[in-house]
Amino acid sequence: MDGRSIGIFDSGLGGLTTVKEAMAQMPAEHIVYFGDTGRVPYGSRSMETITRYVKDDIDFLLEKDVKLIIAACGTASAVALPRIKDDYDIPIIGVVEPASKKAVEVSQTGRIGVLGTGATISSDKYNACILSMNPNAVVTKKACPLFVPLVENGHTDDTVARLIAEEYLAPLKEAKVDSVILGCTHYPHLARLIGELMGENVVLVNSGAETARYAYEKLKEMDALSDRTEGDAEFFVSDSVENFTQLGSLFLGRPIIHISEVKIGE
Ligand code: DGL
Repeated sequence: MDGRSIGIFDSGLGGLTTVKEAMAQMPAEHIVYFGDTGRVPYGSRSMETITRYVKDDIDFLLEKDVKLIIAACGTASAVALPRIKDDYDIPIIGVVEPASKKAVEVSQTGRIGVLGTGATISSDKYNACILSMNPNAVVTKKACPLFVPLVENGHTDDTVARLIAEEYLAPLKEAKVDSVILGCTHYPHLARLIGELMGENVVLVNSGAETARYAYEKLKEMDALSDRTEGDAEFFVSDSVENFTQLGSLFLGRPIIHISEVKIGE
């Protein structure tokens, strides 16, 4: 047993979808969350910049004496983690492997769609991971740069969102995928719309939920599950607390209470 916290980070507030899942699946765990709200977005930046930011995020969480780190950010997971995660002594789990594993499991035809930020899709990490699990899989990927601002501005199921989603999903429909990885923190908020447009036989894979499950299994394997009677969460951000608290509460589905602004990367 290990009563230390789980660290979770993201480029901003999107990773709260993973915190929500982790709190539901592991109610006895204490979570320390870092959202790099002062430097978001990561999804349109270069590999070098994303990697530098991710190192800062991990170093910040290590100062909090965490036992395991989850990179909730799709971009951080695909672009930076493969290059740096072996440099650390503690397990660092990204979303690519858990989400790919689930997609390979649920796909009947091997035709799998992947949606993510520009950097995630250019990295080709999902392709590589899925093919390592099923060499016969056919992956159709699509960068969806407008999805994050749409979600953050409340356009999750209106005419604007629908028009853009139709365009992004067209290649996946044409490829007749039977499962779609929502490879970015924000996309679960568009799940109803994406599900409707793709059709009821297409399975949507929520990368945050899969990663929370994976983290639970990892802690169990390490015999490091929490011995607390009840968990809680503490939040740190690199920009104004007010902005994060408002929208963040919607992402988390509960009020954000213990929150502080910190300096990062100095
Ligand atoms: N959190 C990012 C991701 O999951 C989306 C926002 C950003 O571009 O930083 O890829």
